Amino acid sequence: MLVLGIESSCDETGVALYDTVAGLRSHALHSQVEMHAEYGGVVPELASRDHIRRIVPLTQRVLEAAGASLDAIDAIAYTQGPGLAGALLVGASFAQGLAVGLGIPAIGVHHLEGHLLSPLLADPRPEFPFVALLVSGGHTQLMQVDGVGRYTLLGETLDDAAGEAFDKTGQLLGLPYPGGPEISRLAQQGDAFCYSLPRPMLNSGDLDFSFSGLKTAVLNLVHKNPEARREDVAAAFQVAAVEVLAGKALRALKQTGFHRLVVAGGVSANTLLRSRLNAEAARVGATVYYPPLALCTDNGAMIAYAGAQRLLADAPAADGVFTVRPRWDLSQLQAA
Ligand code: KG4
Ligand code: ZN
Repeated sequence: MLVLGIESSCDETGVALYDTVAGLRSHALHSQVEMHAEYGGVVPELASRDHIRRIVPLTQRVLEAAGASLDAIDAIAYTQGPGLAGALLVGASFAQGLAVGLGIPAIGVHHLEGHLLSPLLADPRPEFPFVALLVSGGHTQLMQVDGVGRYTLLGETLDDAAGEAFDKTGQLLGLPYPGGPEISRLAQQGDAFCYSLPRPMLNSGDLDFSFSGLKTAVLNLVHKNPEARREDVAAAFQVAAVEVLAGKALRALKQTGFHRLVVAGGVSANTLLRSRLNAEAARVGATVYYPPLALCTDNGAMIAYAGAQRLLADAPAADGVFTVRPRWDLSQLQAA
């Protein structure tokens, strides 16, 4: 079965073709990062308009790269939410329109389910059940994953998402948007122990997070030490954020008794987070799984994959009505 995946929830247009037998056939991505950079964040209206410009050529490119024609597609999966309403509508209307034209099903996919299942596109892939640490620009959640659609929320951020904290700290340090990759790059030349920043809620005894205090601590540090090197501040921030994420993920493994941890979402590309998680998990006999590096941030492959799993299980996530869900709680998804 060949599934076309369409992602347009934020500032990346992603299209991919996933074959349930042969695996990922091709994928293409257009990032709007440069377009939004001068505004220091995503401008929703600009995002929607750019998705409109990109979606058809990207789809053609994906089909060509796979040597497949439109008639070969069996279903179209698209991100139905959560995300920016206008941006979601572009992908949803394109997918629904094309599906009606081809007489095939369109499947609305939950964006976070896409991220959460994306490590299954890697080799080796994790078996169920596992603990998932979802760390993106909009979400920070620990989930217990017993199967496709069987997600239990273990903990989440009470304020800013981890990626958001990276982005806001980057902005504070005068770095281009998005701050995550920039901070990670700068931190390599910095001394993480030059400044001491708080590890919010690390010892709160639960699996929730809070990152807004860390961001404020960086702000205070920069005000009090105007001569501080950006490299050192970036390194101190990164190690604080990573320690909290790793500490909570390890606590979730202990609480569930699981030995598999899956890390997904844009922040899962962070090298310090990866090395810290790998080392700490190894100490307790657990294994950490990540999506392929190119599929950590938003992409069409994870949407095609999640849609294919839903289709195979005959359990569409959405009700089939043409609607988008800018706000959509992952733990409300039905099992596949
Ligand atoms: O999953 P994603 O592409 O989009 C959302 O669904 O939000 O995640 C984007 C987030 C941004 O906040 C970005 O700064 C962060 O992922 N990010 C990183 C790294 N690469 C991307 N954060 C830390 N280190 C990185 N290497
Ligand atoms: Zn995402």
